[in-house]
Amino acid sequence: MKAVVYRGPYDIQVEQVEDPKIEQPTDVIVRITSTCICGSDLHMYEGRTDAEEGLVFGHENQGVVEEVGSGVHRVKKGDRVNMPFNIGCGFCFNCERGWTGFCLSVNPGFAGGAYGYVNMGPYRGGQAEYLRVPFADFNCLELPDDDSHEHDFAMLSDIFPTGYHGAELAGVGMGETVAVFGAGPVGIMAAYSCLIKGAAIVYVVDRVPERLEVAENIGCVPIDFSKGDPVEQILEMRGGDGVMRSIDAVGYQAIGSEGDEEQPSAVLEGCIGVTNPTGKIGVPGLYVPSDPGAKDPHASQGMLPISFGKLFEKGLALGTGQCNVKRYNRFLRDLIVAGRVEPSLIVSNEVPLDEAPDAYEKFDQRVEGYTKVVLKPGA
Ligand SMILES: NC(=O)c1ccc[n+]([C@@H]2O[C@H](COP(=O)([O-])OP(=O)(O)OC[C@H]3O[C@@H](n4cnc5c(N)ncnc54)[C@H](O)[C@@H]3O)[C@@H](O)[C@H]2O)c1
Ligand SMILES: [Zn+2]
Ligand SMILES: [Zn+2]
Repeated sequence: MKAVVYRGPYDIQVEQVEDPKIEQPTDVIVRITSTCICGSDLHMYEGRTDAEEGLVFGHENQGVVEEVGSGVHRVKKGDRVNMPFNIGCGFCFNCERGWTGFCLSVNPGFAGGAYGYVNMGPYRGGQAEYLRVPFADFNCLELPDDDSHEHDFAMLSDIFPTGYHGAELAGVGMGETVAVFGAGPVGIMAAYSCLIKGAAIVYVVDRVPERLEVAENIGCVPIDFSKGDPVEQILEMRGGDGVMRSIDAVGYQAIGSEGDEEQPSAVLEGCIGVTNPTGKIGVPGLYVPSDPGAKDPHASQGMLPISFGKLFEKGLALGTGQCNVKRYNRFLRDLIVAGRVEPSLIVSNEVPLDEAPDAYEKFDQRVEGYTKVVLKPGA
């Protein structure tokens, strides 16, 4: 079959690889209909990780079940399914408590597994024609048996639940004030989730005009950080008051307010600055224990200077970590089915799998409004 294969920094190829096979009785094989490129894939694409040559990318996968292992009870051949980017076993200490992003069984020596991702276990990604799904009864979310909402459902693997997770980590509830840093797919989905949860006002900080426009279109207040300190801008708009909740949907590749220089703690500092005493900060944005691409020697070891004293003084709470997709995906699916939400609003491009190298390059450079790319193996 064809698959998107990592060959080194800024080099991915669509190549022929061996078809996946049922390896355990609990596996299924899914024929992929939609598989997305994620901001997280770019960390590997840019050579900012230890990803090895030959890795097949793709953790945002959806399709139709083609083959079923003898130990699979619920999922049937022909079912239309979406897979969380995390792979969980369903029976370990963490999975049992809903922390499926930190499964203790699927990736020995590490809490958490995923498809096609460095350090996340020996699971091939789904930017390919077919995907092996382990513990399939646990990891397949069933979708309506037609071709409705294909791109809305495709957002359920990662960014919609991850955005929602950001809102949960920040404790967003009815009538709340929120600042979301980052208007990439995760930031927009976080802002969208805050609105679903009944937030009164949501500021969204970025500097990419089309992304800020999306934020405005869904009902948020756009803040352009290239025009000045975003914390100051928000405080000024609010007559000196901050917000009670903030969300870091950027992560360690944050850009400082001036120029294009990376300033890995810029967004965490912004969150600490803009959040009122007793508030809460949610951090779905990715931070890594080591970053071979960082110029700063501390940042290269995953250490960031942040105003922890200020955080303490304000009594702020901080929630971090990978999203436990299974905690939210069926509820978010049902909001889609009910016609209440349309997360595909973030999809900017639909591209045949063969054109993945070009799509990666453009997405990486954020050209031509590339925000969220869905790859179509069947096209
Ligand atoms: N926790 C999880 O489970 C999980 C899942 C998926 C993605 N992620 C992470 O979430 C982050 C965002 O993902 P994405 O796909 O939206 O990425 P993205 O790169 O498309 O978007 C990031 C956005 O942040 C903006 N930005 C940069 N510096 C900023 C600053 N100082 N202030 C405000 N905005 C700034 C950029 O302009 C960009 O639009 C990434 O770190 C990704 O790895 C985490
Ligand atoms: Zn992703
Ligand atoms: Zn588990």
